[in-house]
Amino acid sequence: MLSTAQQFVKEYIGAMFEMFPNFWTPVLPIAEIGFTPIAVELAGELLVLFRNSASQFAALLNRCPHRGASLSRGQITEDGCLQCPYHGWHFAASGACTRVPFNQLNQAQLSKLSVVSFPTRVIAGILWIFTGTENVPEIQLPSSLMEPDERYIIHHEIWNAHWTRAIEISLDYLHIPFVHRDSFGREFNDVAHNSALAQISITSTANGMTVINRINTLPAGIEIEWRQPNNVILKLDLDGMPLRPHLFAIPINAQQMRFMQVVLPKPGIDINNFNFDEFFAASLDDRIMVESQIGEVPNTTDEYNVPTDEPSLRFRRWYYRTVKSEVLPQV
Ligand code: FES
Ligand SMILES: [Fe+2]
Repeated sequence: MLSTAQQFVKEYIGAMFEMFPNFWTPVLPIAEIGFTPIAVELAGELLVLFRNSASQFAALLNRCPHRGASLSRGQITEDGCLQCPYHGWHFAASGACTRVPFNQLNQAQLSKLSVVSFPTRVIAGILWIFTGTENVPEIQLPSSLMEPDERYIIHHEIWNAHWTRAIEISLDYLHIPFVHRDSFGREFNDVAHNSALAQISITSTANGMTVINRINTLPAGIEIEWRQPNNVILKLDLDGMPLRPHLFAIPINAQQMRFMQVVLPKPGIDINNFNFDEFFAASLDDRIMVESQIGEVPNTTDEYNVPTDEPSLRFRRWYYRTVKSEVLPQV
């Protein structure tokens, strides 16, 4: 049976999160969410985030069910509710309406006035939100995201691109000598220009794939894992690489996304002597490339493809089938 808030969505708002429905996704580091409500856009929906104690966070629709004011302009009350700035209704973190000024309403009446709230979790120092309200599954995470919050170093920024483009470049090994030719990809330049051949091996996993990339002129390969929907893990077990980067492409709307890097330093490394700014800045090359592309990834027949594009084609097939409910032809 639907709650009154879910009923409100069905009757007055319609389908939500259409561009990214029913997924768990990180949204913002908890260090950036305080007792002042903040507005965020996630997959085309406007939400308000706040915390009302050290550990309790809330994500509500940023639209008061009374007259539609932005709740993010309100304030947190002493009893941990979000007070609408317009007529002062109080909403708990669960979305339940707990008080309506100047009216004497009983519990049954109040229970019909709740605002839509979304499931949240705190993992790896980040607030995660489920982009739906029904049939909420448990989050499936790799063990490298289940360490204590304080172990993670997090960087995020907004890119003017569709989130699928950022997943694709993160899965793509062979752009490194070109996109990063003036930074860390410099050492790959000769490799790429001397008739090298790449071998890409893909293994399907329960929720994505593992891609092992090798170039025949390089001694070591690199493993990249994609976890549905929007996480790419770089398994850079190269000598001297002391980090495990988790990349997230978080949809904001059809034109923008948040690129979030969640880095787990390996035990024993001196993080004070690691240049994280330089590390995070390396994604600027990717950002420039992805922002030059237009819109979401097209289906598998709208561009030319070669054998080394298979990881991206697998991602596109999943995206069109699962997110857009379209089946693509095999290429
Ligand atoms: S619009 Fe929120 S209380 Fe009236
Ligand atoms: Fe890159």
